[in-house]
Amino acid sequence: MDWAFRPQSVEIKSPREIEKMRAAGRLAAQLLDYIEPFVKPGTTTEELDRLCDAWTRTHGAVSAPFGYHGFPKHICTSINHVVCHGIPSKKQVLKEGDILNIDVTPILDGWHGDTNKTFTVGQVSDAARKLVDITHECLMLGIAEVKPGARLGDIGAAIETHAHAHGFSVVRDFVGHGIGRVFHMDPSVPHYGKRGTGLRLKAGMVFTIEPMINAGGFEVEVLKDGWTAVTRDGSLSAQFEHTIAVSQDGVEILTCRD
Ligand code: MF3
Ligand code: CO
Ligand code: CO
Repeated sequence: MDWAFRPQSVEIKSPREIEKMRAAGRLAAQLLDYIEPFVKPGTTTEELDRLCDAWTRTHGAVSAPFGYHGFPKHICTSINHVVCHGIPSKKQVLKEGDILNIDVTPILDGWHGDTNKTFTVGQVSDAARKLVDITHECLMLGIAEVKPGARLGDIGAAIETHAHAHGFSVVRDFVGHGIGRVFHMDPSVPHYGKRGTGLRLKAGMVFTIEPMINAGGFEVEVLKDGWTAVTRDGSLSAQFEHTIAVSQDGVEILTCRD
C-alpha cells in the first residue's frame, strides 16, 4: 500500500475547537497579507523571517516552525526550484523574476493555523506565472472535493488531473496533514491518488491541503542542511496551502481573510 494511504485514526474536532482553529487560521492568513508588500527585489529572506516573527508575537502568537524538529527559523521561504522548507537567510536576496513561497504557522492559544502562498517578485516569466496560477487552481480544486463522505483520494485525483493537464508534476514526498493542537498529525493528505479510494471524510476533521507542483519531474532531493527540498531536475516549483475543516455540508477554509 502507498504509505500516504495507510489506515489512519483521525481526530474529530468539536465546534468550540474549530472556533479556536478559525482564530489561529485567520491570524495565519493575516500574516501572509502583512508580509506581502515586503516581498520585493532587494529584501532578504532573513528580513522576512524577522518581520513575521515580530508580527506574530505582537499578535499574541508564536511561530510553530521555530525549533520544530530543530528548524532554525520562524517561517519557511522557498525560492524558485526550492519545493518547500527553505530556511530564511541573510545571503538570500530576492530578485526580479523570482517566485517565493512563504509558509507560516502561528500557534494562537495552543492551536495551529498553517498556510502558505507563492508570491511573484516583480515581473516574472510567463512560464513562472502559469505554474503559480495552476498551482493555486490545484489547491482550490482539491478543496472543492471536500465534504462528508468524500474520500481522500478524490482530493489527490482532482489536483493531479489538473497539474498533468498542464504538463506539470505533483510532488509525492510531502503531503498535507491533520492539524490542531499538534502541528502534524493524521491524516496524511496526498496531492495525488485515485478517486473513490482512501480515508472517508467526516465533519469535524481538520487538515491542510498544500500541493507542491513542479514544472519538470516530481522528484525531490533534500540538501545537506537537512531541510531545503529542491526539485531534482532544477525545475521551478510552486505551492499553496490552506488549513480546512470538513463541515456538516462541505468545507470551511480556516486560513482565509475575514
Ligand atoms: N508549514 C509546513 C507545512 O505546511 C511545515 C514546516 S515544518 C518546518 O507543513 F519545520 F520546516 F517549519
Ligand atoms: Co502544512
Ligand atoms: Co505550512
